[in-house]
Amino acid sequence: MKVGFLHSLIRKDEKFLLDEFNKRPDVDLVMIDDRKLTFNLGKEKFDYDVLVERSINHSRALHALILFESNGITCVNTAHVALTCGDKLLTSRALATHHVPQPEVRIAFTEESALDCIEKMGFPVVIKPAVGSWGRLLAKINDRDAAEALLEHKSILGSYHHSIFYIQKYIEKNKRDIRSFVVGDECIAAIYRESEHWITNTARGGKAVNCRVTDEIADISIQAAKAVGGGVVAIDLFETDKGLLVNEVNYTMEFKNSITTTGVNIPAKIVDYVITRGKGGK
Ligand SMILES: Nc1ncnc2c1ncn2[C@@H]1O[C@H](COP(=O)(O)OP(=O)(O)O)[C@@H](O)[C@H]1O
Ligand SMILES: [Mg+2]
Repeated sequence: MKVGFLHSLIRKDEKFLLDEFNKRPDVDLVMIDDRKLTFNLGKEKFDYDVLVERSINHSRALHALILFESNGITCVNTAHVALTCGDKLLTSRALATHHVPQPEVRIAFTEESALDCIEKMGFPVVIKPAVGSWGRLLAKINDRDAAEALLEHKSILGSYHHSIFYIQKYIEKNKRDIRSFVVGDECIAAIYRESEHWITNTARGGKAVNCRVTDEIADISIQAAKAVGGGVVAIDLFETDKGLLVNEVNYTMEFKNSITTTGVNIPAKIVDYVITRGKGGK
């Protein structure tokens, strides 16, 4: 089987995947560096049975996936999943459409209407760039003064993306959230991310601790994965008195800190799934 491996820098996560692919005797792995990749539209011929996307850059990943898929290549994840998960607004819309519980989210396009939303939601709220990751440029807003200042800064100093305001209710989460991993139809593992800071990303110093995959975690994670189009995704969950809420869904999932923590061979599960998709399976 010919497997295309779309990548930028090879990080630890990609090394784990490559080691696992190299253990499979029937896999012919072809490295595709997105820094060198070009398309000659309508003229290219690709013969991968399946392509696995591991780019670091969202817009590169998304556009490459669109072009590979338009050449008939099966991709993990699909361009649809990349489009939906790469944008928190589209993720929230997909979750809402599929009735998957999430924190209250409001969207506004001007400073005035954003302030109006925030007043209706009540403080604190979190404003996030719709496209972004690793906990960057998130703002927790505790009062109206901070809200006015942040909205003005974003409107005047930011690119136009920053004037599409994605506003989420702040969830009191007891110094941790849950990151669950879904591959195909299965929730294969989960970790708690613990931190003294309200932003718990491991990229921001959050500590990974194993979390047992309860039925509730598995159910909501699989629902969230289905809502965005399935595949290989990592889901951020908040624990509340009323049950779990889905914060976001990530599509080029990072798992390097979670293999020993959970005891689950996450790269092997991903590779199994990619091979199944390459054979035409779901
Ligand atoms: N509404 C919220 N309430 C409480 N904590 C939040 C909220 N939104 C984000 N956080 C914290 O910030 C982290 C990063 O936010 P997230 O939406 O996942 O963005 P990123 O794509 O940067 O990971 C979350 O894992 C969580 O710890
Ligand atoms: Mg996150």
